[in-house]
Formats: sequence, C-alpha cells, structure tokens
Amino acid sequence: MTNREAGWPELGKRPRHVAFVMDGNGRWAARCGLPRLDGHREGIANVERIAAALMARGVEYMTIYMFSTENWKRPQEEVEGIFDLLVGWLRDRVPGLQSAGVSIRHYGQPDRLPAELARALQHAGSTSDGERLVLGLAINYGGRAEIVEAIRDVLSASEADRGIDEQAIAGSLYTAGVQDPDLIVRPGGELRLSNFMLWQAAYAELYFSPVLWPDFDEVELDRALSAYEERSRRFGGL
Ligand code: IPE
Ligand code: IPE
Ligand code: MG
Repeated sequence: MTNREAGWPELGKRPRHVAFVMDGNGRWAARCGLPRLDGHREGIANVERIAAALMARGVEYMTIYMFSTENWKRPQEEVEGIFDLLVGWLRDRVPGLQSAGVSIRHYGQPDRLPAELARALQHAGSTSDGERLVLGLAINYGGRAEIVEAIRDVLSASEADRGIDEQAIAGSLYTAGVQDPDLIVRPGGELRLSNFMLWQAAYAELYFSPVLWPDFDEVELDRALSAYEERSRRFGGL
C-alpha cells in the first residue's frame, strides 16, 4: 500500500519535524469541572499518544512545549504540581517510550527547575538512543532566553574561533543538530507562538486548532498533517 492509499502524505510532503504547543489543559479541566492539575495530567499523558502516532507516520522529530520561562508567573501550587506530574511521567512512562525507539532531549534551562526534575530530564536524555523519534521536551524553555544563551556561548569561544553567523548561533541553541520544525501545531485556540522556537520557526508552517490539547487525538493530528500537505513551501523562492 502506498502512503497515499493509506491516507498519508507522500514521503516528500511528510514533515520530518512536528512541534506542538501543549495548550488548553487548564480549560479542558474547567470544562470537566476538575482542578487544573487534572488537565495537566491528561495533557502530559497525551504526549505519548501523539508520539506513537507520529512514529507510525514516519515523522522523525517531535517537540513539545510543556513549560515556558513565563509560566513561572502562575500560582506556585500549579507550577509545583506540573513539575511533580512531569517527574512522575518521566519515571513511569518515558522508559516505555524509549523502549519503543524514542530518544529524549531536554530543551530549556535546567538550573531553576527542582533538582529531581532536572535530574530526571538529564537521565532521560543520557539513556536515550532510540532511532525512531527524537522527542524534544521544551521545559523551562523560552525562545528569547535560548537565543541569548546561544549568543553568550558563541562569544565565549576563543577569540580565534569566534565568528557570529547563523550557523554558529543555530549550533549553540538547545536544538543543535535537530532540523528546524517543518510544522508547528498549536491546539487550544490561541493564535500566537508564546516565545516558542523563535529562531527555528523562521520557515515553519503554522497550524492552529481550537481543540484543547488533552482532546487533540490522531484524528486532529491527521487534519494538521493534511493541511501541511496542502501547503506550498517556497522559502523565499518562487
Ligand atoms: C498548557 O495548558 C500547559 C502549560 C502552559 C504549562 P494551560 O495551563 O496553558 O491551559 P489553558 O490555556 O489555561 O487552558
Ligand atoms: C504556552 O502556553 C506555553 C506552553 C504551552 C508551555 P501559555 O498558556 O503559557 O501561553 P499564553 O500565556 O496563552 O500565551
Ligand atoms: Mg494556556
């Protein structure tokens, strides 16, 4: 069966890297009459479902924005609750993903995170050699902070090696070595990037959906992939 017969984009049209803004967890919980943290639990659990679906569709890179440098503005109870859920998820669910061929990478600043979470992210990254999907977890991630860090990194190279160009900056981002996202998907109804992958998004196709992330399932994913298939990417050319 060809990809097209199976309902999937032809190889050339399939995105290699799909990045998601995990948004709408709180509203999902409110809609169900549940505490916000239940929405976060459901949202984090959904990452596995979408990762499996992407693997089945031959996508090589997935990135998921799970906690921004701006999310520290939320009540401490919610922030700590999210971190606890992430630690539990990394401990209980991520090893299964790794066995299925997923490599984990952390994009973000580990320093301000609770030690347990920073350690769990470090551990997941260092025990990852899966070859089917690179799953980047953007946690304590900010696009501007990432660019500032990259510039500092380039400037700290010895005088002789120092050269600031696009390649040097890209090579110092958290995502060094990972190709830019072809498609950025934001469920949850907001039409903005909220400081996500500002450098890497230069030529990404953007897809927005009103569906809240915990409800964003394979059917919604296929809608996004079909929309991508219809786009004409020109990168400034004709
Ligand atoms: C996304 O869901 C998770 C994080 C930003 C940590 P939200 O918590 O932003 O959910 P809404 O937007 O309030 O519904
Ligand atoms: C973006 O969602 C950050 C993450 C999903 C981690 P937010 O809910 O924080 O974004 P805004 O505040 O609506 O822009
Ligand atoms: Mg939100």
